[in-house]
Amino acid sequence: MYQAGDRNDRILLARVPGGVPVPEDFAYDVTAIPTPGPGQFVSRTIYLSLEPHYRMFMRPGQTAPHGLCAGDVMPGETVAQVMQSRHSDYRRGDFVLTRNGWQQFALSSGQDARKLDPAIAPISTALGVLGLPGLCGYAGLLYLGQPKPGETVVVSAATGAVGSTVGQVARMVSARAVGIAGSDEKCGYAVNDLGYTACLSHRSPQFLAELRSACPEGIDVYFDNTGGEVLSSALEQLAIHARVVLCGMAAAYSRQSMPPGPPLLAVIRARATLLGILAEDYLPYLPELIKVVGGWIRSGRFRYREDISEGLASAPTAFCRLLRGENFGKALVRIAPEHL
Ligand SMILES: NC(=O)c1ccc[n+]([C@@H]2O[C@H](COP(=O)([O-])OP(=O)(O)OC[C@H]3O[C@@H](n4cnc5c(N)ncnc54)[C@H](OP(=O)(O)O)[C@@H]3O)[C@@H](O)[C@H]2O)c1
Repeated sequence: MYQAGDRNDRILLARVPGGVPVPEDFAYDVTAIPTPGPGQFVSRTIYLSLEPHYRMFMRPGQTAPHGLCAGDVMPGETVAQVMQSRHSDYRRGDFVLTRNGWQQFALSSGQDARKLDPAIAPISTALGVLGLPGLCGYAGLLYLGQPKPGETVVVSAATGAVGSTVGQVARMVSARAVGIAGSDEKCGYAVNDLGYTACLSHRSPQFLAELRSACPEGIDVYFDNTGGEVLSSALEQLAIHARVVLCGMAAAYSRQSMPPGPPLLAVIRARATLLGILAEDYLPYLPELIKVVGGWIRSGRFRYREDISEGLASAPTAFCRLLRGENFGKALVRIAPEHL
């Protein structure tokens, strides 16, 4: 049992990174565990989610609420357990989704917190396939991409939390799922474990030709998680009346400025529709995601993979790996055991 005032280890942003972050951009710091006031609870962090787009918040000149300055505790979604509560809706022992950031303990007013039911699926999934990344993949594909049976759905970063949801939901609605990923190992997992019809490495010298031959009738729905060259190549293969869902730009987050735009003539030629998605706008669909995909997970029809680093001190290195595209599965840090 912890005592209020005990040690709370935290990781801060030490300086604005120059390009792809390095561990020296972060600093370790220790403070006291806070004491909850009326209407608050304190929770211990169990899993910390690492999100590639947080790199964008570290750019010089970024302002609140998202901008990060040297000395700020690194923010992040977490799965935590309530340790002491003066909030009527939360009791000691409850598992919760919170935004504790890169630290062992944090206070919450309950705003933005959500109780988790460990009977639905492992609690870590609330940060991945049953959380905002999964919501983006699920709602973005079904409600924006609107795939029809037999159509070809292509997704980049195909084995991550977003991409693996897109690929498997495409399969569930009888579309042809074609993945794009960064290594042969990821592509093998995409086909053998996730059920993609094919998966192509964007690092292959023949990538463009391989994409064309994997999509002989063109791409009906392209779900983009990376931007850059991969997006440009996919746009060149669009089928008539294709839908393109723009979800993330993993290839650009560490750049000082956004890369030049993709080839829009290809969009005109295909009379395609481009749609941007922010997971937060789809929160009303979260119960549907948890019910539908949670059911598929329990029945073994839906697979997911987590890339878990051990201990708070590993967070900077794990974040840097994620920004180099070296994670394989949802990037998490285990800060503490689920059960004490
Ligand atoms: N719009 C929203 O509301 C929302 C919500 C959640 C996530 N997202 C976005 O969705 C995308 C996928 O998120 P995720 O959490 O599932 O992450 P993830 O796919 O587990 O990790 C990011 C992946 O991007 C790929 N990548 C391609 N080019 C890269 C480069 N130059 N540098 C680094 N990585 C590169 C890598 O996969 P490969 O090795 O396979 O290429 C890497 O593993 C991200 O862009 C994220 O920001 C958007």
